[in-house]
Amino acid sequence: MNPDYNAQTQKLLLTQQAARTLETRRSKVLGQLMFCQGCCCGQTEKGFPELPRERLKHEWKQRRLNDTIQLTISGCLGPCDLANVCCLVVPHDLPQWFGGLHAPQQYEDLVRWAQSCQSAGTLQPLPNWLLELRFERFTTQSSGCSALSQEASLTP
Ligand code: FES
Repeated sequence: MNPDYNAQTQKLLLTQQAARTLETRRSKVLGQLMFCQGCCCGQTEKGFPELPRERLKHEWKQRRLNDTIQLTISGCLGPCDLANVCCLVVPHDLPQWFGGLHAPQQYEDLVRWAQSCQSAGTLQPLPNWLLELRFERFTTQSSGCSALSQEASLTP
């Protein structure tokens, strides 16, 4: 085992070698909702809509939503021209990307959506208005993960 890897990475490699799936502390969440707050999204001084960062963090914490839908507020996710951007990652599906978030009500709706997922214990349908803001993050045609599965490796 490479001594440069920390204990968690060594555990990951051992699990991978045993063809098992490594569970992490957040493996059991239903999804992860990432709001971009990078060079454009949420940067009101540049003319982009506000991202209610503290409000989202407060609501997520108060309602303990992170055990159901993990909240992440990130740096630039890439498609700045569609600011404000968010991305939803759920098990066994492709990430879903949404752009053009602009109204406080939209963020409140997403808090309510996460709350409904928590109450139901399963993913709930997204608000219709959000589906209208969906876009494809990548237009490149490729074979997807199969291109990564054999060649990419953490071991040098
Ligand atoms: S700043 Fe949000 S996508 Fe770049």
